Amino acid sequence: MVGVPEVQDPTLASAALRRYVASTPPELLDPAAIAFFGALDAVGAALPDIASSIAAELGDQRSNIKLIASENYSSLAVQLAQGTLLTDKYAEGVPGHRFYAGCDNVDAIERRAADLARKVFGADHAYVQPHSGADANLVAFLAVLSQTVEAPTLARLGHTNLAELPEPAWEALRREIVGQRLLGMDLYSGGHLTHGYRHNVSARLFEAHSYTVDRETGFLDFDTIVRQARALRPRILMAGYSAYPRRIDFARFRELADEIGAAFVVDMAHFAGLVAGKVFTGVHDPVPHAHIVTTTTHKTLRGPRGGMVLCSSEYADAIDKGCPLVLGGPLPHAIAAKAVALHEAGLPDFGRYAHAVVDNARELADRLRGHGGRVVTGGTENHLVLLDVATSYGLTGRQAESALRSCGLTLNRNALAFDPNGPWYASGLRLGTAAVTTLGMGAAEMHEIAGIIHDVLTPAQPVDGSRARFDLPDSAVAAARARVAVLLDRHPLYPEIDLGLLAPGVAG
Ligand SMILES: Cc1ncc(COP(=O)(O)O)c(C=O)c1O
Repeated sequence: MVGVPEVQDPTLASAALRRYVASTPPELLDPAAIAFFGALDAVGAALPDIASSIAAELGDQRSNIKLIASENYSSLAVQLAQGTLLTDKYAEGVPGHRFYAGCDNVDAIERRAADLARKVFGADHAYVQPHSGADANLVAFLAVLSQTVEAPTLARLGHTNLAELPEPAWEALRREIVGQRLLGMDLYSGGHLTHGYRHNVSARLFEAHSYTVDRETGFLDFDTIVRQARALRPRILMAGYSAYPRRIDFARFRELADEIGAAFVVDMAHFAGLVAGKVFTGVHDPVPHAHIVTTTTHKTLRGPRGGMVLCSSEYADAIDKGCPLVLGGPLPHAIAAKAVALHEAGLPDFGRYAHAVVDNARELADRLRGHGGRVVTGGTENHLVLLDVATSYGLTGRQAESALRSCGLTLNRNALAFDPNGPWYASGLRLGTAAVTTLGMGAAEMHEIAGIIHDVLTPAQPVDGSRARFDLPDSAVAAARARVAVLLDRHPLYPEIDLGLLAPGVAG
């Protein structure tokens, strides 16, 4: 191909693939493993260090237990759908109405992904273009503003095209658009920064207000939210979280939104898989209750990194204008991978998986409490657990996070509501069970993981009043690492891939 450099080292190209094919009986050859080795060979022949980092990441994820609540392990089919020539396509617009020629195949892919999303979630409409959860929220916000603020003003002024509005009228409208109120869950109570955190564009676009959890119980107090919402009368009432271990009654939120004339937007980025898998049903399923539901596709839903918006028919046209409202061209390769993931999420196995995720989180919370740990709200009803390590072990979240990582457990520190340690050092850990459940772990493994966590955090000691440094005896590290290795050996990640087959330069 013109302008594409020659392969740097032709002996590297397809070395792993050839070794795999030579060492595997033909009837056992796995198409995903062939594709993985072929991809690494091809990337490694062009840029060995990138191939090597990809392989090293698989090694890392195989030797550490992943308890990051916002991550998962997507299927190799999902990953491979992304690694295709679809990345080369521009397709601004929506299926059947593009600003580029040659989009027939992208149309088919986007239609399929949207159909699957509608089916899995029982939604009137799905828009699968957002590149991320943050983008999906911006699309939702701007669609509400365009439908409820911009459109009535244009109609009043007798215009149909914003671009043709005279300058003074546009400036007045622009000020009206950015003067609207948003009420969402406070970041430090478990909300997300895109829900009105001052350092995020959401707080610059809106007059943003937030509700918190109750200081004593850690639960959302709906009566307080009602009082706040009645007083503020926001344009958008928002629910959804990144670090709240309980279910939410979305029917009550919708009633409140209707009473105050707000659009009700739910960000289900964290628990989309629990909705797809029918763990959250009735009043806990946001889709029948919210005007608009936004999500990521890569957390409990177990798809590729990306975002998505579901909405009732009344918002469909406004949401479909995500480009040009927020986005440029869609990512057709990511949309193809979303289609594969949504297909997987519609299978009966996924329902069993989603229920097991929540069972595992409950077991983990119970076991941590059994060891004397303080778990925020006393337990969990979803995929995540918040452990107060300051109260339980005299550590900051940062110290606990680093201590556990040194022992083979990957998770993240998390500020607790009203946290005196702030978000950087924090007083809590956020643990999630989506990834370990994908590996097939169950109650016995949760029991063991809780024991490892307790046996690491108990001997860990802060050093010299530092909120980052800590001491942890080598013996505790070695013992924990050995226990982690036993769990991971029994539950290997992508067992069809033997990293030993990679060329030395690629395997690192
Ligand atoms: C509730 C919630 N919304 C939105 C996002 C943003 O998603 P992304 O990182 O894909 O932009 C996250 C990510 O953690 C989240 O937890």
